[in-house]
Amino acid sequence: EAKFAENKPLKGRKILVTAGGTKERLDPVRYMTNDSSGKMGFAIAEAAKEMGAEVTVVYGATTVEPPQGVELISIESANDMLNAVLSKLPQMDIVIKAAAVADYRAEEISPHKIKKTDERLTITFVKNIDILQTIGKQKTHQFVVGFAAETENLEAHAISKLKSKNCDLVVANDVTQTGAGFGTDTNIIRIYDRSGLVVALPLMDKKAAAKHLLTLIAERTAAPGS
Ligand code: CTP
Ligand code: CA
Repeated sequence: EAKFAENKPLKGRKILVTAGGTKERLDPVRYMTNDSSGKMGFAIAEAAKEMGAEVTVVYGATTVEPPQGVELISIESANDMLNAVLSKLPQMDIVIKAAAVADYRAEEISPHKIKKTDERLTITFVKNIDILQTIGKQKTHQFVVGFAAETENLEAHAISKLKSKNCDLVVANDVTQTGAGFGTDTNIIRIYDRSGLVVALPLMDKKAAAKHLLTLIAERTAAPGS
């Protein structure tokens, strides 16, 4: 009995994971996206399921297949992701925002295919709503985990994102390191809370990194006396 509980430290917990990149449409056949593969978010979803959680995955553009045995919600844009996440938020216990959300979208989506008439083309982009920050403001009891992809000043940026978005943990990775970040099967993550560095994990596959993260989340969300 005790051993079973140890193997399922997230038993019955409802976890929302976002994964992949968003697509921001320019016209009916073109869009802007990023290098996110979805691998980290899907690895978290898969590991959370194995640890006993009820998992919902809101995912955008990915290069790999989504996991099975979880609730899957496919979206295109950052605004779609925002709406899907907010509709699920009240029933969730834990939210993990691994998605690479576009910071900007085209101010106007051309209803027709843009023609190559002019030598120069200017498209105005406007800022997308920050989904994680919105969750941070609206959350009631949810444990919220953000990600921070950085190329410099990892710790300072990670902690400032954690605070400004009211997260419980931030998973930071230096995407310039070999074996970390977009597209790879491995990652090198550092996990921060309000007081600073919690753990710096060495290079490992994304599933193993996901298990470390989820074990920490399970410890920090355990009911007193359980
Ligand atoms: N994020 C989000 N909604 C956005 C932009 C980002 O929810 N519109 C989330 C990401 O899913 C991630 C975290 O915020 O969990 C940090 O994303 P990141 O791109 O590292 O930071 P930004 O706050 O967007 O700042 P910048 O890109 O300027 O570093
Ligand atoms: Ca960003």
